[in-house]
Amino acid sequence: MAILTVKNLSHHYQDGDMRRYVLKDINAAFEQGKFYAILGQSGSGKTTFLSLLGAMDTIQEGIIEIAGTSYAKYDANAIRRNLIGMVFQSYNLIDYMTAVENVLVAMSITERELPKDRRTVAYNLLDYLGITRTKADRLVTRLSGGEQQRVAIARALATNVDIILADEPTGNVDESTETEIIEIFKMLAHKHNKCVVVVTHSQTVANEADVILTLRKGGFTQNE
Ligand SMILES: Nc1ncnc2c1ncn2[C@@H]1O[C@H](COP(=O)(O)OP(=O)(O)OP(=O)(O)O)[C@@H](O)[C@H]1O
Ligand SMILES: [Mg+2]
Repeated sequence: MAILTVKNLSHHYQDGDMRRYVLKDINAAFEQGKFYAILGQSGSGKTTFLSLLGAMDTIQEGIIEIAGTSYAKYDANAIRRNLIGMVFQSYNLIDYMTAVENVLVAMSITERELPKDRRTVAYNLLDYLGITRTKADRLVTRLSGGEQQRVAIARALATNVDIILADEPTGNVDESTETEIIEIFKMLAHKHNKCVVVVTHSQTVANEADVILTLRKGGFTQNE
């Protein structure tokens, strides 16, 4: 069963007197255990779509369901804190904190049940994603871009969510780092049964996905 279902989703922005539709009647379904890539030209609405999936924007028309329950039945904050992990192109970490503290922040605002020894869990998670103890204790600004993105992925996973959404997560890293980051996303989908949805301009990323969705005016086309 799909963990995320999108039904007849439309979204517009007001442009003076004009109502300009960025998304029009989008239907899609996302399952756990799969790695999805969303492609589309600049301005085709990818970030808008991901923001709606991540409850960072209010749904205007249509429905998004998470495990069969409409977002409308939830408080948007609760979705963001408890059900979904987000990863961004520019990492969006807290600069004056260490890597492990960034992960602990996500753990401190969730309402999910987490193990008692959060710090140990955070170190282990970072280590699993390739951030050693020494690096975990460093300010994130003292880490490379690729390392910062690993920390951001650890933060997204810290609350043990089933869904990871990423907006151009490899947009700021070189090709070999991109390959490493994609391997992490693939592992999360295939080994840890996460639903991973990645917006990208990179054909390399898309080639590794289980499903490619291309956003165009009027809806998705899908290749499996
Ligand atoms: N808050 C906003 N107010 C008005 N227009 C907006 C807003 N956010 C996005 N748009 C417009 O909606 C369209 C789609 O934007 P969006 O950021 O979703 O595209 P995108 O596919 O992510 O593009 P890119 O690949 O460049 O990141 C663009 O024309 C953009 O200018
Ligand atoms: Mg975008």
